[in-house]
Amino acid sequence: MKVNPITQTNHKTTFTSYNKRSSKTGLSVSTSFYLDFPVLRKAVKIIEERFPSGADILVYAGSNGEEAYSINTLLKNPSRYKINSIDICKESIEYANRGVYGIHPLADDGFLIKEDKTNADAPFLKKIFYKYFSEINKPDYNIDNLSDVIYNIRLGNEDLFPQKFFVPNAGIKQNIRFLEGDIRDISDFSLDSKQGKAGAVFFRNALYQLTKNDLRGVMEYGDMPDLIFNKEECLADLIDKVYNKLSIGGIFVMGSHLQEHLYIADKSVPDSKTIVADAARNIRYMAYPPHIKVLNKNGRFKPLFDYLIQGFGQNLKLPLIWQKIK
Ligand SMILES: C[S@@+](CC[C@H](N)C(=O)[O-])C[C@H]1O[C@@H](n2cnc3c(N)ncnc32)[C@H](O)[C@@H]1O
Repeated sequence: MKVNPITQTNHKTTFTSYNKRSSKTGLSVSTSFYLDFPVLRKAVKIIEERFPSGADILVYAGSNGEEAYSINTLLKNPSRYKINSIDICKESIEYANRGVYGIHPLADDGFLIKEDKTNADAPFLKKIFYKYFSEINKPDYNIDNLSDVIYNIRLGNEDLFPQKFFVPNAGIKQNIRFLEGDIRDISDFSLDSKQGKAGAVFFRNALYQLTKNDLRGVMEYGDMPDLIFNKEECLADLIDKVYNKLSIGGIFVMGSHLQEHLYIADKSVPDSKTIVADAARNIRYMAYPPHIKVLNKNGRFKPLFDYLIQGFGQNLKLPLIWQKIK
């Protein structure tokens, strides 16, 4: 893989989850509605075609629930599918169960509350969002957990940037449940249908948290990233578990963040298989994406949908949807 200078792009997430960090894990739970919509649209299409009578969908890294709701509103027959939105962060699950969402006009999903002529999908997404969500008045309790003071001062100004608040309608909540859980325990997740196998496992923009591949250590803050933790071993273990949990034809869906695709080389990787990221600190990237290697093992998964990776200084597309084929 050729790596050009990298520009870190910032997802502007749903305001209520912007920069929110779990108090237990310290991990970012940032997300937004309809994030990378083309990927969600394609994933839903595959699920519906492969499992027309229904399936279990496991949305790991489900954060506050925006992703599970987005998927559910895209399904033609949502009642046929059981969606489990699972996150390791307890506060996110509490947030999701409370079910009040604030949308900021400048966030990624800000198009839902304003005119956005640059987003060709906005009219369709607005139509389905407003079918399944109702606007409410600003709650009298604080639903944010902003830790970034500058962001708070600048964009938290209600007069300049009026947010809108929404709750899901009963119809779109019935087949979703929110659970605290760790994808590393996916083997123990009990499912009634299809011999305990799932039609889809989503784990978007969290692989980098699991593999300790936080690139801010290289690009932004100057902290030394973890060079000891064996990333390929961690990915191999995870993908084996996901594979075992999926039905044949089921899909594994990844995120588009750079950190999901460009891995810091840990000590287990010989220098000959790396690309220099920071010569002064001897930080290197793995030349071949380790997740692609483990997904391709024994031809068990087929890549289905290439998508633009955020943050590469070029138009690099990599597969984000992988289908279990045997
Ligand atoms: C950056 S957010 C991404 C949320 C959403 N999937 C998206 O793409 O916008 C990462 C989420 O993954 C969760 N997470 C991290 N490790 C996890 C694990 N091992 N099992 C389940 N959730 C995990 C975090 O708590 C956080 O909510």
